[in-house]
Amino acid sequence: MKTNYGDNSISDYKGIYQAAVIGLQQESLTKNSFRIQDDFYFSNFHPFNDYCLQTIYYQLPRLTNVNCDEWISPDVFKDLMFMENDCHPLQLCNTGSFLTKSTPSVYLTKSFAGDTHGDSLENNVEIYMEGLNDIQKKIDPSKSTGLCGDIFEIINEFIFLQDTQLQKGLIVVASFVDRPPNLGGIARTCEIFGVKALVVANADCVKDKEFQYLSVSADKWLNILQVKPYELQKFLLNKKNTGWSLIGIEQTVNSTNLMTTTFEKRTILVLGNEKDGIPANFIPLFDKCVEIPQVGVTRSLNVHVTAAICIWQYANQHILK
Ligand SMILES: C[S@@+](CC[C@H](N)C(=O)[O-])C[C@H]1O[C@@H](n2cnc3c(N)ncnc32)[C@H](O)[C@@H]1O
Repeated sequence: MKTNYGDNSISDYKGIYQAAVIGLQQESLTKNSFRIQDDFYFSNFHPFNDYCLQTIYYQLPRLTNVNCDEWISPDVFKDLMFMENDCHPLQLCNTGSFLTKSTPSVYLTKSFAGDTHGDSLENNVEIYMEGLNDIQKKIDPSKSTGLCGDIFEIINEFIFLQDTQLQKGLIVVASFVDRPPNLGGIARTCEIFGVKALVVANADCVKDKEFQYLSVSADKWLNILQVKPYELQKFLLNKKNTGWSLIGIEQTVNSTNLMTTTFEKRTILVLGNEKDGIPANFIPLFDKCVEIPQVGVTRSLNVHVTAAICIWQYANQHILK
């Protein structure tokens, strides 16, 4: 630390520095303390020289294994008209390439050992940020996620099989929905209104007691597909390329009113997460976002209620005739 930054840089943080040194010298930690010094934040990371938006919002989340849908590319700030000002210490991008070339901490990598979709995410973040011109209201507009891995070969096969059965109708995507009661309720509504398939993040959700209370066995008569959130962009793009209309059910700046929406026959409705809604990087994929008009004070509807209203509206146009 001292070698990298010099005595002056750390003088303001003397107490923290001493505590860190003493902590690292503890006998039980000695072996590890040597190892972690190779990690980017103990080796070359410089809190002053690397102080920029790219470090804070993109490189540090990436290097600390924060889920890739939390990384925010510098391009987003460009889109949002971030002005660099020479007199201000906060710049957009890193001047050096050290952080870009750094790899996540080995310790973090170990604890994420099951997560194999690492490197190629970065490129995808860039790709999906390019079209970011509509954002979900009330959340940070710059979330991103990515695609990767051989898993797509398996998924493609799976999708091909599903496609032979799924030529038209309504598909409801609930891969972002977490709570079993919401999923069970959505399954029931889907079954009742003749939805062709319900897409969920984990097909085992049907075994959950709370799911079953709401679903009342409706899932037994419903085509339930499993597509995890990180596989979803690929799934949706495949569908879009084969003529399906992709609709995000979300309150965004540019959402159209459900009451004036005419759904295509081949429609996919994507629902958001109970807390975070639809990740912002998905919004550009949609043909449009549709919003249910509200008059009350409460900011949003429950996701199952939302699904029920939208499915009914589709059914009213194409099924209940
Ligand atoms: C509880 S909301 C998510 C939280 C929301 N983003 C917020 O900040 O209040 C869960 C999901 O329900 C759906 N939703 C809720 N109210 C809606 C509305 N009025 N119009 C369209 N979708 C709505 C969206 O899919 C949303 O992502």
